[in-house]
Amino acid sequence: MKLLVTGGAGYVGSVTSRLLLDAGHEVVVLDNLSTGFREAIAPDATFVQADIADAGTVLTPDAGFDAVLHFAGLIAAGESMHKPELYWDHNVQRSLALLNAVRAAGVPRMVFSSTAAVYGNPTELPITETATKAPTNTYGATKLTFDFALTSEAFAHGLAAVSLRYFNVAGALIREDGTAIGERHDPETHLIPITLQVAAGKREKLQIFGDDYPTADGTCVRDYIHVQDLARAHLLALDVAAPGEHKIFNLGNGNGFSNLEVVEAARQVTGAELPVEIAPQRQGDPATLVAGSQKARDELGWIPEKNTLTDMIGDAWAFYRSHVA
Ligand SMILES: NC(=O)c1ccc[n+]([C@@H]2O[C@H](COP(=O)([O-])OP(=O)(O)OC[C@H]3O[C@@H](n4cnc5c(N)ncnc54)[C@H](O)[C@@H]3O)[C@@H](O)[C@H]2O)c1
Repeated sequence: MKLLVTGGAGYVGSVTSRLLLDAGHEVVVLDNLSTGFREAIAPDATFVQADIADAGTVLTPDAGFDAVLHFAGLIAAGESMHKPELYWDHNVQRSLALLNAVRAAGVPRMVFSSTAAVYGNPTELPITETATKAPTNTYGATKLTFDFALTSEAFAHGLAAVSLRYFNVAGALIREDGTAIGERHDPETHLIPITLQVAAGKREKLQIFGDDYPTADGTCVRDYIHVQDLARAHLLALDVAAPGEHKIFNLGNGNGFSNLEVVEAARQVTGAELPVEIAPQRQGDPATLVAGSQKARDELGWIPEKNTLTDMIGDAWAFYRSHVA
């Protein structure tokens, strides 16, 4: 297939591009490089530096794209509470411009990077696709809004749409030649890369927000999914996309790991001491978020393969040492 990958200079988009190319697809990456890195783009992809709002310059009716995989967006939940206008603009307004371009060009399929943040504080565990959607931050609200836009687009105009709701993404893609493609966000807000920054001496200590949650060790529990498993799910999503339907899948490994378990695993992988400071709970941080991904297993045939913390942190550390440290 001929595929447009928005956000292909970012973490998940750059890893997925490589698996798409490995599978024999043609990949065009569209990215404005606002938070992505030119060197992360898959070397065999065609790169167009542009904003998704201008995707119509690439998605012309005669360009022959078979699908758009839409990763581009702003992703920091905390920032979205201080600068909501940026999140509504990128994740909704510009994404709707992309959707208009998809329709105008007659592209039949679209796969969208949605998020567990659409659910907010869970009313059930594990969290399935039918759980109450009540985002507690602007980021989650903007992603849920675009999910709704895809539902109506499929209904009204026959788009074959798939939303993949990722839980916490971690790890890196390690290529056969040993090169690694992984996570770089600035500022970094995700626990595993922050832990690695401490291990590399780039930060003095790491903060854990709250040790008085109703969990086994009192720290928050999250569901981590290896980026390689996540990327594979996108290839499967392209296969099951069906005209006029909007299919939605949660992607997590179904196991929760506490913040302290992550730190302990990182100590073992890196050999570093990793001093921890316990800070007060953050507003809107649920105690436990664990995915129910049975639907993805049943309908996509998706089985996460790299689901231990050692797999994820080990690969992330290999990337960190080769690219960031
Ligand atoms: N990383 C996670 O843990 C996680 C979890 C759930 C969902 N997601 C979703 O997955 C997607 C990818 O996340 P990521 O971690 O790879 O993020 P990232 O920041 O690494 O990549 C995003 C990419 O999009 C590009 N971009 C942003 N706005 C753009 C615009 N208007 N036009 C063109 N390009 C633009 C950036 O330059 C960057 O390369 C996002 O949509 C995010 O909401 C990520």
